[in-house]
Amino acid sequence: MRHLISLKEQSADDIREILTLAERIKKMYKKGIPTPHLSGKTLLMFFQKGSTRTRISFEAGMTELGGHAIYLDAAKTQFALADFRDEIRASMRFGDVLMMRLMRVEDVALAASFDQIPVIDGCSEKYHPCQALSDIFTMAEHSNGLENVKKIAWLGIENNVSNTLKLACAKLGIDVALATPEVNDASVDFELNDQTEETGMVRKTLDIKEALHGADYVHTDTWMDVEYFKNGEVRPEFANEYERRRALLMPYQLNAALIRAHASQAGIMHCMPMHVGYEISRDAIDHPNSIIFDQAENRKHVQKAILLWLLEMKIP
Ligand code: CP
Repeated sequence: MRHLISLKEQSADDIREILTLAERIKKMYKKGIPTPHLSGKTLLMFFQKGSTRTRISFEAGMTELGGHAIYLDAAKTQFALADFRDEIRASMRFGDVLMMRLMRVEDVALAASFDQIPVIDGCSEKYHPCQALSDIFTMAEHSNGLENVKKIAWLGIENNVSNTLKLACAKLGIDVALATPEVNDASVDFELNDQTEETGMVRKTLDIKEALHGADYVHTDTWMDVEYFKNGEVRPEFANEYERRRALLMPYQLNAALIRAHASQAGIMHCMPMHVGYEISRDAIDHPNSIIFDQAENRKHVQKAILLWLLEMKIP
């Protein structure tokens, strides 16, 4: 049975197969050709954390494939009362694929270990495989082919999103430059780091100019954790950490001046949600090189491909 957890278990050919499926399914959607390939199928979506894009893209994608998606909020189910292991085994009896956005990937892996239905990590503390696949799809689309994407740069903080993106790029032979003075401790996966280092495709540097040199695309993601803020203000208990990160990471902000100086050719990317004025500036979001909203839209086309791939469905 296929699962999508970290992309460690997927080969370069698996990744290419998903991207090809996404290209075909997107073309069919744009031409108005119906794609009822998952008619009668149910996607279970279980969230312990908030989401805009992941929820909407899976739900809309499932509708367009003729199936149905059920949104399960962890706080409003019996998961709060009962043993996770029992609740998840029972839940999987009702669906064909389970997508989980959980606090800990070990619980996603536990669900997958039952091998009842395919399981997707919909963003854990360590991985975001759906985002990585969608980001690569978007870059390939804007470069007129995956073979034309030669190098990406990632600025700011290493985290769950950069983990899966660097691994997928490395597997596909794309150079990755990480200009990252900070690493999110919870996201560290030594096995994933070893896999990427073995490819020789990933380089870490604190020299932004070097990281951006020749990059086809520049990515970033939020530096600040959501719990640092309440009602738009920094909570007093996180004030020191907020200031430390802001001072350390501000030179790595993705902004128009940086692009003009070091990578005028590069596409600007952010997986969203964005913290404007922190990891990215308004002039980068609205820059002619920005493909951030295409990147968001492609989540849906790639989610559809992921579902079809997991269920081993062919499309004509
Ligand atoms: N990028 C991403 O996963 O967005 P959401 O958190 O809104 O799902």
